[in-house]
Amino acid sequence: MQQAIGNGHVSGDGPFSKKCQTLLESTLGVSKALLTTSCTHALEITAMLLDIQPGDEVIIPDFTFVSTVNAFVLRGARPVFADIRSDTHNIDETQLKRLITPRTRAIVPVHYAGVGCEMDAVMEIAERYDIPVVEDNAHGLFGKYKSRYLGTFGCLAAQSFHETKNFTCGEGGALLINDPRYIERAEVIREKGTDRSRFFRGQVDKYTWVDIGSSYLPSDILAAFLYAQLEAREQIQQKRRRIWEFYYDRLSGWAQERSIRLPIVPYQCEQSYHIFYLLLPSLRQRSELISHLMARDIVSVFHYLPLHLSSMGRRFGGKPGDCPVTEDVSERLLRLPFYNDLTECDQSMVVEAIKEFHER
Ligand SMILES: Cc1ncc(COP(=O)(O)O)c(C=O)c1O
Repeated sequence: MQQAIGNGHVSGDGPFSKKCQTLLESTLGVSKALLTTSCTHALEITAMLLDIQPGDEVIIPDFTFVSTVNAFVLRGARPVFADIRSDTHNIDETQLKRLITPRTRAIVPVHYAGVGCEMDAVMEIAERYDIPVVEDNAHGLFGKYKSRYLGTFGCLAAQSFHETKNFTCGEGGALLINDPRYIERAEVIREKGTDRSRFFRGQVDKYTWVDIGSSYLPSDILAAFLYAQLEAREQIQQKRRRIWEFYYDRLSGWAQERSIRLPIVPYQCEQSYHIFYLLLPSLRQRSELISHLMARDIVSVFHYLPLHLSSMGRRFGGKPGDCPVTEDVSERLLRLPFYNDLTECDQSMVVEAIKEFHER
């Protein structure tokens, strides 16, 4: 970060932003990576790139963060919520065909917890109906499906570098572009609707307003903060793998005896080790476990509330029973503390506290 300040280029697209982008492009094998101010903003850019218009429909899993849907609703789209699979909590690919209509303009799979969606099936149906796929890969940087990096399947994908993610600059994200036809317009939209990037490359002699757009470039100081972590990606992912496996090894026998489910990672997925959760038998047990842990200064959290039952979701016609798997999982899922510096000692305390809960 000191170097970024010393470079005298602290606004966007400085040397560290370029380094992050080049690293993402070469590691993942994407045509273009553009750093953004958040994953939310990267998703907003995708909605503009796909020319989403009022009344267009976008298929989105019901179990996700609001930004997945809001980015498209901002352009006037009507969200069509797909329920999730009960194993990975990813979009249920078997529902897609039923949800597609002549107005469907995008399918937005979310790789929940960095475990890949069934991308063969998703891409097959999207290609058959000629519908673009945008991957919300907020959780899944460096995760793979069938040996291929998540974020490289759809024409576009969005990453998050929010503080809750494996790699972070506080607030930040990236747009990944796999279909090169979108590159030039993405640069314009990200630069306030101007052709400033072309100007800096010497391709035009002045820059001007050419399209809609907004201000989506993170400061190069943040890019420097992020770059250090991207350089250390293998060590960071190894740490997270150790944390994930520690929970899994210590809790699996215990969970099985109590009808508590731990995360399921299908053989074709190499996960990103983003989240570790328990799926408890009931909402009551989850609430009690949260309080039990809280009394021992351990913070455990749940997410996501079913989007179709939120007040916005109801405005789009959502009603109880529309997405039964999401409704059920949303009441029972509990996330355990999981961050890069979590020590084995602290993790042991979490595990012991959880086990005490069930011995009461
Ligand atoms: C699935 C998913 N998509 C999008 C986002 C938004 O990310 P950001 O905070 O970088 O905008 C999140 C944030 O947690 C998320 O979990």
